[in-house]
Amino acid sequence: MCGIVGYAGGRPALGIVLDGLRRLEYRGYDSAGVAVVAGGALSTEKRAGKLANLEKVLAESARPGIGDGTTGIGHTRWATHGGPTDRNAHPHVSADGRVAVIHNGIIENFAKLRAEVEATGVVFSSDTDTECVAHLLAAELASLDGAAGADGADGAATGNLAEAMRRVCRRLAGAFTLLAVDARTPGAVVGARRNSPLVVGRGSGGNFLASDVSAFIEHTREAIELGQDQVVLITADAVSITDFAGQPATGRDFHIDWDASAAEKGGYDYFMLKEIAEQPRAVADTLLGRLTETGDIMLDEVRLTDQDLRDIDKVFIVACGTAYHAGLVTKYAIEHWTRIPCEVELASEFRYRDPVLDRSTLVVAISQSGETMDTLMALRHAKEQKARVLAICNTNGATIPRESDAVLYTHGGPEIAVASTKAFLTQLVACYLVGLHLAQVRGVMYADEVASVVDQLQNMPARLTRLLDTMAPVRDLARELAGVSTVLFIGRHVGYPVALEGALKLKELAYMHAEGFAAGELKHGPIALIEDGTPVICVVPSPAGRGVLHDKIVSNIQEVRARGARTIVIAEEGDRAVLPYADHLIAVPKTPTLLAPLVTTVPLQVFAAEVATARGHDVDQPRNLAKSVTVE
Ligand code: M6R
Repeated sequence: MCGIVGYAGGRPALGIVLDGLRRLEYRGYDSAGVAVVAGGALSTEKRAGKLANLEKVLAESARPGIGDGTTGIGHTRWATHGGPTDRNAHPHVSADGRVAVIHNGIIENFAKLRAEVEATGVVFSSDTDTECVAHLLAAELASLDGAAGADGADGAATGNLAEAMRRVCRRLAGAFTLLAVDARTPGAVVGARRNSPLVVGRGSGGNFLASDVSAFIEHTREAIELGQDQVVLITADAVSITDFAGQPATGRDFHIDWDASAAEKGGYDYFMLKEIAEQPRAVADTLLGRLTETGDIMLDEVRLTDQDLRDIDKVFIVACGTAYHAGLVTKYAIEHWTRIPCEVELASEFRYRDPVLDRSTLVVAISQSGETMDTLMALRHAKEQKARVLAICNTNGATIPRESDAVLYTHGGPEIAVASTKAFLTQLVACYLVGLHLAQVRGVMYADEVASVVDQLQNMPARLTRLLDTMAPVRDLARELAGVSTVLFIGRHVGYPVALEGALKLKELAYMHAEGFAAGELKHGPIALIEDGTPVICVVPSPAGRGVLHDKIVSNIQEVRARGARTIVIAEEGDRAVLPYADHLIAVPKTPTLLAPLVTTVPLQVFAAEVATARGHDVDQPRNLAKSVTVE
């Protein structure tokens, strides 16, 4: 959840670290802090709240030396252990003032470690699990300093710092990315990871460590992704990697194929608005090159044979939040196209109910970040049961795709706003492609049938562009409704997950009571919520699809309207049947039934962003949330 960045090089570290934190703030914004090694001493500063609070303090009364040091680390926090206060902000410094540590994750055995450290007389100055790492590292360094030649793998001058980190990591349980600096090892930053991401940026005249590449993209596009249970030590001109036992190891080298401007707001007030506008391009990019000359759908990494896919007799989709809603839509497509039973499950629930899985089960894990812990744990559970796992992910080389048997990457580009927008649309596209691929491999769809769906998908960017140009009335309506206390969403078939997604967007951005229902369920309870004037957003399927579905929801709209609801109807252009019952009509381009969520979701994203703006909220960084949920 937290964002971490480190730099060792020839330039002042503070500015580089703060720039990196600015780009990582989407990962958490409960507090921020930095530590710089300068003149053989540590200089640290940290503050509760957003990065701006820390920057203000640094601008008003910078600690001596903090602007001069060329080695530094920085952290932006999403609180787990200990509330979001100044004292719990990272970095945490060892009792002897020598070591500063930042951490992303949860150290599960921290209570035992803390008791052990306290028994040596150390008094803790925070409530965090992280602080015990700082004290343990300092103790290991002290003992290594007394024993010459403790380690050679990382170079004589800096080896003790890496060895101390390895010794500490071997004692930690849980999930962690750790970075540390040592006042007596100027010029080096050590990092370690288990179940939490860490990438190295290879610069010229300096190297970087960060939770993700956006932190250093303006300095270098050459990166190394660290493997599980590895320790890395960077200096201005070297990067050395070992496993926790001290054996030399390698990470995965990769080139970052987007640049810093892709992570900037580009003239929009919020990243979310920019990301909504980027959806036509994101969808187009995700489709790029997917159909071979022979009409076959291509995934990105496939460690499964076609026979493996033919043997599949059951599909489970696991995901969280918005990605889960993409999974719910996919169920309709996979079952319709392949006739394989498909279940969709919240990743956080999956492994705890002991699902029935075997070699002929395909588990599809959907995750924008590729680091969501609930989804990762569901995936690992599936693999333990010998199921095949296919990942849909937006982050090249993240843990979830790395641990999967097959991968289809969405090409959404960086999504910075906490609320998912282009991630959802590109996940849908990727899911459709997976469904088509399964259908094709199993011989239940002909190449021309697949090509006709792909053709429809390829028309989506143009439809989305046209749709986005018609959003002004949606924004007007959002401002008009910004003061209401409840908004309900209803839909049927693939419109039901769209209703859930619309409600989630409004909850997380506008902090408003919002609920999505399957329209047919209304009469079984939720219709009691409707009072005079309650806005109900109704997602209507195409009348050109299954007529009965369309007729049923038109009846549902009449039912809520008869009880006083103010109906906001999202329907296909030219759908005249809804006109008498729509207090507000939002027309979307004509789209085949299964693909309709690609268009019907967009007005709901625009609506939620505008309500949040009208209510004075921070659209990109809603309260209590973080972009990447790397704890269970
Ligand atoms: O990175 P992931 O796709 O695994 O994230 C899953 C959810 O945390 C995420 O979709 C979340 O619900 C959205 N950001 C909400 O807009």
